[in-house]
Amino acid sequence: MEKQTIQWFPGHMAKTRRLIQESLRLCDAAVEIVDARIPVSSRNPELDQLLAHKPRIILLNKADMADGEATRQWVAAFQQQGMAALPVDCRSGSGLQKFRPLVREVLREKIAQNAAKGMRGKPLRLMILGIPNVGKSSFINRMAGNRKAKVADKPGVTRSNQWFSLDKGIELLDTPGVLWPKFDDEIVGLHLAFTGAVKDEIMDMETLAANLLSALWEEAPEMLLARYAPEWTGAWEPFQFMEMVGQKRGMLRQKNEIDLERVAVMLLDEFRAGKIGRITLEHMA
Ligand code: G4P
Repeated sequence: MEKQTIQWFPGHMAKTRRLIQESLRLCDAAVEIVDARIPVSSRNPELDQLLAHKPRIILLNKADMADGEATRQWVAAFQQQGMAALPVDCRSGSGLQKFRPLVREVLREKIAQNAAKGMRGKPLRLMILGIPNVGKSSFINRMAGNRKAKVADKPGVTRSNQWFSLDKGIELLDTPGVLWPKFDDEIVGLHLAFTGAVKDEIMDMETLAANLLSALWEEAPEMLLARYAPEWTGAWEPFQFMEMVGQKRGMLRQKNEIDLERVAVMLLDEFRAGKIGRITLEHMA
C-alpha cells in the first residue's frame, strides 16, 4: 500500500532545546506527558539526553483510550528505566490524585535537603514537557484549576515562560517553546497522524484511514469487526473494508458511488474519539 511522507519543521527544535536547557536549571524535576496509545511516537527522543540529570515523571495521558494491560506494561517499563510513571486521564482527571504524592516521593531527597537548609516548604518546581496535543494544557488546568495564578517571572528565564502555582508548594512550568515529535520515521508519522497529533491538511485521508484500518486489524481485529462489520470473513483489504462500511452507513455520492473520503474522515474521527475501543498501538519491544 502507498505510504505517506509527513512533513515536519526541524528549525523549531533547536530553539526549544535551548529554551528547555535554560529553564531546566530552575526546575527540580521534569514531567513528561506522553500519549498512552503511542508511548514511543509521542515522545521527543532528544529529551532523554536533555533531561538526563533530572528526576523524571512520565504521565501516560489519555489512558482512558489505551488498552489497560498495555498501559500497565508501559508503566513497568518506564519504572525499570528509573523513571516514575503514572497513567492518567487529564480530561476527566482520573489518576491525577496520585500525582502530588508521587512528586513528593520522587523528590523526597530534595525536600529533605530544603528542610535541612531551613527552607521547609520551598516550592517544588516541575517542568511540564510534551508534544503538541498530548494534553499539557488539560493537565495544567486540572491541577491548577482556578488557582492558575501565574507566578512572577524568574530571573534568567525568558519572559514568555508560563509558571503556574499549585497549592501545597508545587509550581509548574509549561513547555518552553514547541516540542516537536520526531516524525521522520514513517511509522512514527503514521501513529501521530492516526491519533490526531499532526494536522490533517497535509495528508490524504483515504490512504491514512486505510493505514489506520490495517494497524487496527493487526492490533484489535475483534474491536474493528464488532463496530463495523461483524459479518466480515474475507481476506484483509482495507479499501474493500472501507467500501463495505460506506455501503452500510449509506455514505454515497451521486450514481451510488461510495464516498470514500467521508468514510475515511468518519473512521479517523471515531478512532480519535476512542469509539472503536481502548487500543494501544505501540508495545514494549
Ligand atoms: P496540549 O496542551 O498538549 O496541546 O493538549 P490539550 O490539553 O489542548 O489537549 C489536546 C486534546 O486532547 C483536547 O481535545 C483534550 O481535551 C484532549 N485530551 C487531553 N487529555 C486527555 C485525556 O486524558 N483523555 C482524552 N480522551 N482526551 C484528552 P480537543 O478535542 O482538542 O478539545 P476538547 O474536545 O476537549 O474541547
